[in-house]
Amino acid sequence: CGIVGVTGKDNAVQILVDGLQKLEYRGYDSAGIYVNDQKGEDFLVKTTGRIAELRQKITPDVHGSTGIGHTRWATHGGVTVDNAHPHFSNDDRFYLVHNGVIENFQELKDTYLKDVPFKSQTDTEVVVQLVDKFAVEDHLDAKSALVKTLGLLKGSSYAFLMMDREQPDTMFVAKQKSPLLIGVGDGFNVVCSDAFAMLRETHEFLELMDGEVVTITPNSVDIQDADGKAVTRDPFHVDMDPNEADKGTYPFYMLKEVDEQPNVMRKLTQTYLNGEGKPEIDDQLIKAMQAADRLYIVGAGTSYHAGLIGKRLFEKLTSMPTEVHVSSEFAYEQPLLSAKPFFIFLTQSGETADSREVLSNVNEAGYPSLTITNVENSTLSREANFTLLLHAGPEIAVASTKAYTAQIALEAILAKALGEDLGLDAAKAFDVRTQLALVANGMQAIVDEKDKLEGLSNEFLMDTNRAFYIGRGIDQAVSLEAALKLKEISYVQAEGFASGELKHGTIALIEKGTPVIGIITQAKTASLTRSNLQETIARGAKTMTIVRESLATDDDDLVLPDVDELLMPLLSVVPAQLLAYYTSLNKGLDVDKPRNLAKSVTVE
Ligand code: G6P
Repeated sequence: CGIVGVTGKDNAVQILVDGLQKLEYRGYDSAGIYVNDQKGEDFLVKTTGRIAELRQKITPDVHGSTGIGHTRWATHGGVTVDNAHPHFSNDDRFYLVHNGVIENFQELKDTYLKDVPFKSQTDTEVVVQLVDKFAVEDHLDAKSALVKTLGLLKGSSYAFLMMDREQPDTMFVAKQKSPLLIGVGDGFNVVCSDAFAMLRETHEFLELMDGEVVTITPNSVDIQDADGKAVTRDPFHVDMDPNEADKGTYPFYMLKEVDEQPNVMRKLTQTYLNGEGKPEIDDQLIKAMQAADRLYIVGAGTSYHAGLIGKRLFEKLTSMPTEVHVSSEFAYEQPLLSAKPFFIFLTQSGETADSREVLSNVNEAGYPSLTITNVENSTLSREANFTLLLHAGPEIAVASTKAYTAQIALEAILAKALGEDLGLDAAKAFDVRTQLALVANGMQAIVDEKDKLEGLSNEFLMDTNRAFYIGRGIDQAVSLEAALKLKEISYVQAEGFASGELKHGTIALIEKGTPVIGIITQAKTASLTRSNLQETIARGAKTMTIVRESLATDDDDLVLPDVDELLMPLLSVVPAQLLAYYTSLNKGLDVDKPRNLAKSVTVE
């Protein structure tokens, strides 16, 4: 979910709605705002659906100088107007937006609010009703009532932003595990889940720590820590151009982001490699990694898939055993760790709650960690010992593309740096700068073949609801990502599979016309995967091949330029991204905002 707030601006409504638009990637089931004009008028507007629908519902009379807003990714309670935020107390006094999950909301409802009628099925409404109850019954002011309520929220994650009609220019903020920033202005202040949402208002932001409660007016920001002590903190500067994330002439962000990949490769090369092609990576980081006996890569979704490629890179170039884990699994069923583990968190957003949970455990145990992320100052970046930034520019489309390839390229640079420092021949021989230059050119050649990819999508994927990507080794890892792209945005049930394993069960699903796409970029296994494709053809499959040039024949469908075998995923994934894009586009779906998903999932 995404949260925004502003106080001290006459055009609060516009600031809130524009801010929510920028946060739409965090969820787009429903949205709402509450504004107060300090002169006795206030307005609540809520809707199901997108921010565009919210804009339509906001009539010209809706105005105010202080307000809060929310865009929702549903957890508790279906997608209805009543379940949309802001939620409010039954006496219409308190208004609250929330990101996170209140684990014990049912228990709180049963214990304290038995006789209170509820308007929604959400966990959030319990909180606003409790604040109201304590304010009225215990004669507490808004902040004290909020603090008392927070004390009851066991094991929960939250970012709250609340208003009290009796102090209409004031916003109250509380944060535990979920991200929230305060943007500082001259005569006004703002609140947001991501700095990105408020860059048109300010570039100065205050970070908040878990347990803190903040009172914000147009001219003051008072932070209080978990023990009730006042805290002062300097803002940090966010150096990002608010226009950077515009779609320009592209119909969808995803296509823009796919096209940006060659430049992202070049940017990473310029940032992390010097003139001679030697990696320039923080010495302390390399030392910390060298001191470890095993690397643990942790991530979710596409980032997890980038980790699967990272494992190959680290093991081949540094000889360090490397494990890759799905965050939500690792967090609650930690495998037996080696004596000296080093953790690498892969996360585009730097905010994924599942990954954050693992990092909290890692920090508690005192193990060293690195976050590789696209978002400077994001939570996972702040909480790890080291950060490497992806420099991919904002990624807005829910389906991740350039962050995946940037993660792989940065893993390659890091593996080269570490392997070289360890004196390993494999790393010395790996000319990462030349290879990434070849990758950038190769990506350009592939994105220039859009017509061909649209044609292949029409031929293979438009009329099916099932498809397979198959490959071996590193190609199998790419198959998983290729299948995920297709699932996410075109709703084709796609599976990425180890091609040799298909015959041990899954081949039963192959029928006449089932699309099977083979990814073939590794010399050692090319002929084996080709045989496995033949086995599917013999059972009626319609096959397509994505093959590197040196292994290609005249019959192959898509031929990829040759680069180092370890970096072939950077090229083989691009046609898969575009196949998913065109399938989604030509089905008339919303490519950037597929159903049920959010870009940054800040609940477990
Ligand atoms: C969400 C997104 C995925 C993404 C995953 C991990 O589920 O929809 O595209 O891969 O989160 O996100 P992260 O920001 O941690 O890479």
